[in-house]
Amino acid sequence: MRRLENKVAVVTGGGGGIGAATAALFVREGARVVVVGRTEDKLRKTVEAIGSENVSHVVADVSKVEDTERYVGEAVSRHGGIDVLVSNAGYEGPYKAMTEHSVEEFDRVMSTNVRGTWLSIKYAFPAMVKRGGGSVVITSSMAGLVGSPTHSAYTSSKHALIGMARALAHDGAPHNIRVNAVCPGVIDNEMMASVHTRLAPGAEAAFQGAISARVPLKRYGTNEEIARFNLFLASDESSYCTGGVYVADGGVTAGFM
Ligand SMILES: NC(=O)c1ccc[n+]([C@@H]2O[C@H](COP(=O)([O-])OP(=O)(O)OC[C@H]3O[C@@H](n4cnc5c(N)ncnc54)[C@H](OP(=O)(O)O)[C@@H]3O)[C@@H](O)[C@H]2O)c1
Repeated sequence: MRRLENKVAVVTGGGGGIGAATAALFVREGARVVVVGRTEDKLRKTVEAIGSENVSHVVADVSKVEDTERYVGEAVSRHGGIDVLVSNAGYEGPYKAMTEHSVEEFDRVMSTNVRGTWLSIKYAFPAMVKRGGGSVVITSSMAGLVGSPTHSAYTSSKHALIGMARALAHDGAPHNIRVNAVCPGVIDNEMMASVHTRLAPGAEAAFQGAISARVPLKRYGTNEEIARFNLFLASDESSYCTGGVYVADGGVTAGFM
C-alpha cells in the first residue's frame, strides 16, 4: 500500500523547488494534492510536470486571511477534507545589515513566513479535526536553529516557526493532529541560486563551491531529499512524532568545524 493512499494534502509554495518535489512524491504515494502559491505559471508547471488528475492548484497569497480561507475551502470542496498540510511557502528576504534593513522588508518576511504559516494551520485545523486527525509539516530552516550574518528577518521568522510547531503540537494533540518542523540546510534550487546571484554576482559557482566546502557532507541537498522527509512526517510512519524539529542540513548545525 502506498504511504499516502486516500489522503488529501495541501502544499503551500507548491510552485517552488521543495514544494513541487513534495507534491510530486505525495501524488506518487497515493495522495490527492492541492498546490498553492501566488504565481499561476509556476503552479501550472508543477501540475503539468506531475501529470496526474490527483494534483491541482489554487493561486493565493498565504499572508492574506481571505486567500487562506479560499485555498483551504477549495481543497475541502475538491476532495472532501484535508489530512496533510505542508506549510512551506517562504520568502528569504534581503541580506542586509540591521542598519540597512527596512521595516517594510522585515514585515514582508514575517508576513509570508510566520503569519502565512500560522494562518494556513489555523484554517486547515478544523478540516483536519473533521477527518479525525492529520499531519502538519512546517518548513523551517537551519536558519531556525542558528544565526547567520545580515539575515536577521529570515532567521527570526524561521526560529519563530519552530516555536509555532512546538506550541501547536499541544493544540493538535487532542484532535490527533501532529505538527512538526523540518529544517533544511542549503538546497540546490532557485531560492539558493538567487541568493548566490545577490551575494556573489558573476561568481555564483565559486560561491556555491565555498559554501559546499563548509558543509560536512560537502554538497548542497536536493529538493527530493526534503520531500522524502516531508513524506515521512506526513505519513503514518511518523505516528508518534509531534512537536519535533527535524534537521536535514548535511551536518551544518551539528557543530563547529
Ligand atoms: N532553498 C533552500 O536552501 C532552503 C533552505 C531552508 C529552508 N528553505 C525553505 O523552504 C521553503 C521552500 O522554499 P524553496 O527552497 O522551495 O524555494 P522557492 O523555490 O523560492 O519556493 C518558495 C515558494 O513560496 C512561494 N511563496 C512565497 N511567498 C508566498 C506568498 N506570500 N504566498 C504564497 N506563496 C508564496 C513562492 O511562490 P510565489 O512567489 O509564486 O508565490 C515559491 O514557489 C521556504 O519556506 C524556504 O524558506 C529553503
